[in-house]
Amino acid sequence: RKMVMTRRGALIVLEGCDKAGKSTQAKMMLDSVTKTGKGIRLMNFPDRTTTIGGIIDQYLRKQIELKDEAVHLLFSANRWELVPEIKATLARGESIVVDRYAYSGIAFSGAKGMDLEWCRAPDVGLPKPDAVIYLNLDKKIASQRGDYGQERYENIEFQEKVKDIFWKLKDDSYWHVIEASRPIEVVHQDCYKIVLETIQRKEHQPIELLWK
Ligand code: TYD
Ligand code: MG
Repeated sequence: RKMVMTRRGALIVLEGCDKAGKSTQAKMMLDSVTKTGKGIRLMNFPDRTTTIGGIIDQYLRKQIELKDEAVHLLFSANRWELVPEIKATLARGESIVVDRYAYSGIAFSGAKGMDLEWCRAPDVGLPKPDAVIYLNLDKKIASQRGDYGQERYENIEFQEKVKDIFWKLKDDSYWHVIEASRPIEVVHQDCYKIVLETIQRKEHQPIELLWK
């Protein structure tokens, strides 16, 4: 009798500083992978549509103040509350492209001066991404891409600190640094190769746990 091995989807994370083009690349990836007939969906963190995400949204829009530790844990909780959905999606063979993940959590809180190990602890054990695509953008080019918005953290000095911490978190065993200053179609082609290769390489591998 023939054994049918079920294939799982891959968990792909896009990280990078503001204006690096994460959302644009995520949408392009959705279109390209969908055209091949493979299942894929987008997620993003923070997910502002949940109850916890609603509090985070108010915090980011500066409508409420929260202690740094408290908001850090809310960002982490926002990921944990979506873990069942992430696992179920991957298990039915659909891949996920996630716009920001635990690395943003540590980088943004760490940029406030918080202890990096303390910041990492609540995210230990989340589903580990099969690949992190880090969109790297030079700060000069980032500033040419227009003004920052009105939300918390949207200023050049803060983003520089964020970038330094991303660099500390980089793990070459599954991170791919992509130069994001190039034309979006060129950046997309690089990302697309990584995504297809990752989907194929991981389809029969178990999902690992982050930092465990
Ligand atoms: P959002 O508008 O969703 O992302 P983007 O800036 O890419 O459009 O804003 C999310 C903001 O929240 C962004 O400034 C990064 C920050 N953030 C944290 O501070 N901690 C986290 O865990 C995450 C996921 C994001
Ligand atoms: Mg934003």
